[in-house]
Amino acid sequence: MKNLEEQIRDASSLDALSRVRIELFGKKGALSKEFAKLKDVPGPEKKAFAEGLNRQKAHLQDVYDTCYETLKKEEIERLLKAQAIDVSLYSNLNEKGALHPVMTTMDKIIDYFVALNFSIEDGPKVEDDFHNFEALNLPKNHPARDMQDTFFFRDKAVLRTHTSPVQIRTMLAQKPPIRMIAPGAVFRKDYDITHTPMFHQVEGLVVGETGEVSFANLKSIMSDFLHYMFGEVEVRFRPSFFPFTEPSAEVDISCIFCKAEGCRVCSHTGWLEVLGCGIVDQNVFDAVNYKDVSGYAFGLGVERFAMLLHKIPDLRMLFEGDTRLLEQFR
Ligand code: PHE
Repeated sequence: MKNLEEQIRDASSLDALSRVRIELFGKKGALSKEFAKLKDVPGPEKKAFAEGLNRQKAHLQDVYDTCYETLKKEEIERLLKAQAIDVSLYSNLNEKGALHPVMTTMDKIIDYFVALNFSIEDGPKVEDDFHNFEALNLPKNHPARDMQDTFFFRDKAVLRTHTSPVQIRTMLAQKPPIRMIAPGAVFRKDYDITHTPMFHQVEGLVVGETGEVSFANLKSIMSDFLHYMFGEVEVRFRPSFFPFTEPSAEVDISCIFCKAEGCRVCSHTGWLEVLGCGIVDQNVFDAVNYKDVSGYAFGLGVERFAMLLHKIPDLRMLFEGDTRLLEQFR
């Protein structure tokens, strides 16, 4: 029996102790064998023999319990030590944050126009019907209102669907000539790989005296701007429609992914649509009481530019905050 106790005390791990437990206390274990001897003990001694065995069994159980507690404690200590984090440890991971790719793209766009003496104008994101629609030649019930997937508030307020209302606010606040851009967030009920409910636009507006601002001016500045943004690309103007410009155009660049040979990004057309523009409609000037003027306007989506510049396949990635994407722009 003495050496049974030693066996328990010698177990150096919980695993070893568990093996000893089976060897001692198990059905076919050492204690069972001792108890089996009871049947050969002569009658009068049976009682004392049994009591002695039970005492020993209880003692061994005590020893076992104590050893178990000690080993368990040691095991926990060991785990804690292995998983410990030294919060006072010096770190040389001197990592800095960085501007989001949408913001660096926005800055790059703004830099171009600021260098050409455009002012930067601002307007509210919660707009009213007049500035977001009416004054932009989008009267109530006009079918073109459906082009904008508007978020409405009560009392006719809307989340602005484009930055064009800043054109109206600027013209109402200032006299011509005007030479402005308006960068900022806009909102539309839309969500897929090329649309998110919030995105950013940069609006542009140039107004001068009648005959001073022409489509040729617009074409030349947009071409130059797109070469500044994308390098050597073809630029093409395609007739289009916006209620606030007439004539209107959408501007495409030759696909920078496939060098215009046709790929999935350009839907095998070789062209990527990048902005909308046109000559300011007379109705817009009437709404702000501008007389004897001419002008052009343009609007572009900043996320779309960022996607093209950085070859980001899904617009939603720009808003998910996944550090695996963002780290690449540090
Ligand atoms: N506001 C238009 C849009 O959001 C873009 C645009 C601006 C078109 C100015 C022409 C002139 O789609």
